[in-house]
Amino acid sequence: MKGRFTLLSVLLCLAFHVSFAFIDGLVANGNFELGPKPSDLKGTVVIGGRHAIPEWEISGYVEYIKSGQKQGDMLLVVPEGAYAVRLGNEASIKQRIKVIKGMYYSITFMVARTCAQEEKLNISVAPDFGVIPIQTLYNSFGWDPIAYGFKAEYDEVEMVIHNPGVEEDPACGPLIDSIALRTLYPPRPTNKNILKNGGFEEGPYVFPNSTWGVLIPPNIEDDHSPLPGWMVESLKAVKYIDSEHYSVPEGTRAVELVAGKESAIAQVARTIPGKTYVLTFSVGDASNSCEGSMIVEAFAGKDTIKVPYESKGKGGFKRAILKFVAVGTRTRIMFLSTFYTMRSDDFSSLCGPVVDDVKLLSIRARKP
Ligand SMILES: *[C@@H]1O[C@H](CO)[C@@H](O)[C@H](O)[C@H]1NC(C)=O
Ligand SMILES: *[C@@H]1O[C@H](CO)[C@@H](O)[C@H](O)[C@H]1NC(C)=O
Repeated sequence: MKGRFTLLSVLLCLAFHVSFAFIDGLVANGNFELGPKPSDLKGTVVIGGRHAIPEWEISGYVEYIKSGQKQGDMLLVVPEGAYAVRLGNEASIKQRIKVIKGMYYSITFMVARTCAQEEKLNISVAPDFGVIPIQTLYNSFGWDPIAYGFKAEYDEVEMVIHNPGVEEDPACGPLIDSIALRTLYPPRPTNKNILKNGGFEEGPYVFPNSTWGVLIPPNIEDDHSPLPGWMVESLKAVKYIDSEHYSVPEGTRAVELVAGKESAIAQVARTIPGKTYVLTFSVGDASNSCEGSMIVEAFAGKDTIKVPYESKGKGGFKRAILKFVAVGTRTRIMFLSTFYTMRSDDFSSLCGPVVDDVKLLSIRARKP
């Protein structure tokens, strides 16, 4: 019995050797709770060389920040645990991660800017990279979780977060914490929906303890999106929310359009010219004190519909329909929010209507 069990274990290990690759969650020392030796620090500045922070390779002016530390009049708060890092001008942190070649992944990390300057971060997993603007503060807490998607071109990849900024004050760089990874399983269109990932169920890692959702930053390419199938085609981010912390119309995930007309999600669907299609979707609120009159504008090519939604900030949704005749072999489906809204409980966090359960079908599609 025991022998057989061992053999079975070996076989399982052989069959599932992929399980040695990354499992969803924080990367090694992704919350920076393991810090440099005291002798590798001068004040907050890490001076102990490239390997001074366990599991990471650092370069440039990197600071190791303890929660509660002061910067001028500002008290620095860390989102998780007691420590975070700050990337000064041209500073970077890097980690090698075992993945599965050919698979898609999403990185989620927390970022806070500390000065008023226009700041950006360059996140890269060669050959992909994305320069993410972080000047907009989306929530009153000061830290925003941001997602970035990539396709693994190797079995081991190098994830680099780099501050390309050149500010006068090196202590003005962004703070980084809680770096996590999730394997993505890009969904395919089905005979029940021409759109991919219409319910937004597949998406970036959401921190179990975090109540801020995850920002999907702008200018995300279709094929490497952290929100598979969808692009963010706007100046600002959209927010990915979960049913653990928010009201979600369907399933466990949805998208909140947090930045008015500057925050839009889109997907290009394959269509047959002349055929009639029906786009159905839910518009609601996330039960996050986002109150008032909202309007979601949906587009299907040149056709459009404005869906008003009266939010009391306590959750709820309605269904909406846009019927259109396709004019091309590709039709752009897009959603944006007409108005800008702030949460009524802090008057500073951006919020807006929720979109979920998006379905596109041609009218004469066979009944499933
Ligand atoms: C971002 O980083 C990648 C990889 O290090 C580099 O190839 C790329 O040029 C950088 N882009 C910008 C705009 O800094
Ligand atoms: C979530 O919170 C619990 C309790 O405060 C803590 O033990 C745990 O480490 C946290 N997990 C993450 C991923 O932050």
